[in-house]
Amino acid sequence: MKAFRITALVLAALAVLVAAGVYSGRFNFSADDAHWGLTARLVQTARERYIGRQTGDISVPGNLGDASFIASGAGEYAEMCTGCHLAPGMGDTELRVGLYPQPPKLAEPGAHRSAAQQFWIIKHGLKMSGMPAWGLTHDDERIWSMVAFLQKLPGLTPAAYQEIINSGEGGHHHHHAGMEMDDHGEAGAMEAGPEPSSGTAGLAQPGKARPVAPTAAGAAATVDDFQRLLAGGDTAAAARLLEPTVLIYEAGQVERSRQEYASHHLQADARFLQGARVRVLSRAGQAAGNQAWVATESELTAAGAKPEKLITTETMVLNRDSQTWRIAHIHWSSRKVD
Ligand code: HEC
Repeated sequence: MKAFRITALVLAALAVLVAAGVYSGRFNFSADDAHWGLTARLVQTARERYIGRQTGDISVPGNLGDASFIASGAGEYAEMCTGCHLAPGMGDTELRVGLYPQPPKLAEPGAHRSAAQQFWIIKHGLKMSGMPAWGLTHDDERIWSMVAFLQKLPGLTPAAYQEIINSGEGGHHHHHAGMEMDDHGEAGAMEAGPEPSSGTAGLAQPGKARPVAPTAAGAAATVDDFQRLLAGGDTAAAARLLEPTVLIYEAGQVERSRQEYASHHLQADARFLQGARVRVLSRAGQAAGNQAWVATESELTAAGAKPEKLITTETMVLNRDSQTWRIAHIHWSSRKVD
């Protein structure tokens, strides 16, 4: 009887503690604060046990080694996954940096999950992480093609990755009628994938929303780095992303070299960006060989006594020297909105 009463007391005390934790508003839900070690281990263990139970009887198809199947999966990956999981030769994305838990870099060599587990995770996604359930919009065949590619991905060089992507462009059938950007939402529009190339590789089709081609992903990352460095006040590092001969057009003004820009508008642009909130509205880009263009339309809300909102359009032309993209030309213009 005494033991029973003690147990009841302990349980009641526990319930009060849990309720206090839940209702107190003290459980930290911010994504820039890591779980406690214990919470992380509990979640991790429960998840792995569940995945283990779910994947026991998945049978892996025999064509995962098939080159065209791999290439088709590579196209899907470039289009939908690189924003979070990156790709060989690609710099970090703002999306990945901000996510908690952070998506793993699937191109890194090392231990990776079995094909069956990858299939299950891609199809069903992972609760309480940013990993979407792609099975809601993609059939099993497509998902297996991504798995086929993921089996090849770890340790691929940027060149080998590019080759697989290029080899798949013709047969890749992830093309939807109408606006491409609708399909995968904003993130998709920014990362985007291999266009069904019909002999127009590297050329924009007028009047059609074109996301960033995978060949231009590195260039687009440099454009983002440039903006981030400026906004962070690191003007020296930002300037290093410019070609010494960079040509800058800004609202009718011209600056003809990195040095000229550094001694004139660079500081002012950095100061302006530091207080501003930038939201990318659309982005397009293509690369051919060692040259790329990246065009970005953003909404910029400047802080200050009287906050103002601008729409800016930006075109950058970049050159690649070994693996590094540098900005050769910038054209900025903006208009006020209210
Ligand atoms: C919005 C971001 C996001 C996108 C887009 C995304 N993932 Fe994920 N993915 C995640 C996160 C977050 C995790 C889990 C990280 C963790 O908890 O360890 C994950 C986990 C995974 C894993 C398990 C990795 C491992 O070794 O544990 C695979 C495989 C995977 N994703 C494949 C894909 C594929 C294929 C695509 C594209 C179709 C994709 N992901 C798109 C965020 C994303």
